[in-house]
Amino acid sequence: MTFSRIAATGSYLPERVVTNHDLAERVDTSDEWIVTRSGISQRHFAADGERSSDLATAAARRALDAAGWDADSLDLIVVATTTPDMAFPSTACMVQAKLGVTNRCAAFDVQAVCSGFVYALASADAMIRTGVAKRALVIGAETLSRMLDWTDRGTCVLFGDGAGCVLLEAATEPGILGCHLHADGRHLDMLKAPGVLVGGKIDGNPFIEMDGGAVFKFAVEVLAETALETLQAHDMTGADLDWLVPHQANIRIIQATAKRLHLPMERVVTTVAQHGNTSAASIPLAFDVAVRDGRIQRGQTVLMEGIGAGFAWGSALVRY
Ligand SMILES: CC(C)(COP(=O)(O)OP(=O)(O)OC[C@H]1O[C@@H](n2cnc3c(N)ncnc32)[C@H](O)[C@@H]1OP(=O)(O)O)[C@@H](O)C(=O)NCCC(=O)NCCS
Repeated sequence: MTFSRIAATGSYLPERVVTNHDLAERVDTSDEWIVTRSGISQRHFAADGERSSDLATAAARRALDAAGWDADSLDLIVVATTTPDMAFPSTACMVQAKLGVTNRCAAFDVQAVCSGFVYALASADAMIRTGVAKRALVIGAETLSRMLDWTDRGTCVLFGDGAGCVLLEAATEPGILGCHLHADGRHLDMLKAPGVLVGGKIDGNPFIEMDGGAVFKFAVEVLAETALETLQAHDMTGADLDWLVPHQANIRIIQATAKRLHLPMERVVTTVAQHGNTSAASIPLAFDVAVRDGRIQRGQTVLMEGIGAGFAWGSALVRY
């Protein structure tokens, strides 16, 4: 049997740090309000001209360095993003070019908003297990700062830019133990950016619109549900987990999920205070931070879980 395992991780954050105090100079808000409601203290914003593919490529280079792999040894590149460089081609093809990959390996984007990384990981894992690929680069990369409505203080304070990735390789022992993915399109109005290009002009609001309270309630409910579903499929409970690496949207959502799994916060990786919500990038970013600072160790059991607009959500159980 062939399985996939994580060979290495990488991440990248743009240089520019924007604190809550910086935002308060531009928007009617306060550090106290943002920290209390979301747990966010600061976020990173991409520089003018810095695209999602630039962030993704920088994260990928760090992972390739950590693994000691040549970029041309990849045979699959998957990028989860809601903020592609262009309508087309895919951001994955841009990353392929920027990494100097000339071997014509497969490359495509996944759009599942903030749950995009879990969807991308599940897709790459399935492709490795079925022999389609042997070495995959799976990235979450976002420049959401470009989609913020600065007249909507309920959303513009929550998001940030960044990229994170993992390198997956074929293995005889499972590293990715299992994934569960879900979506329910009936909730599409809870969180969306409806604007589209029609005849060269944007038709509809191109910025993020959100019913924060409804998103909060839905996220708490289904994140615990999918986490338990994945644990139960492997005869595990929260007690068997070394780490939970959740999507970093809001510290209160993370705390509520941990509580339902009976998991102390000491075993939950949180980066929401420093990164804000980086959408598809948040899980691999947090994972990489915890690998590099020595918290996540080889052989440990880690549950990743994410949720985003659609609504789409899912979880992945990993032996690192
Ligand atoms: C957005 C969120 C932080 C708002 O928190 P909340 O406790 O629900 O706050 P409310 O929206 O009820 O707003 C409460 C008050 O704060 C005000 N407010 C909203 N944003 C504010 C801001 N940035 N600064 C100061 N006040 C703000 C509101 O206008 C409202 O004032 P009012 O009572 O006078 O009308 C919260 O709902 C949330 O985190 N939801 C989930 C969002 C999320 O994770 N999305 C991504 C999913 S992938």
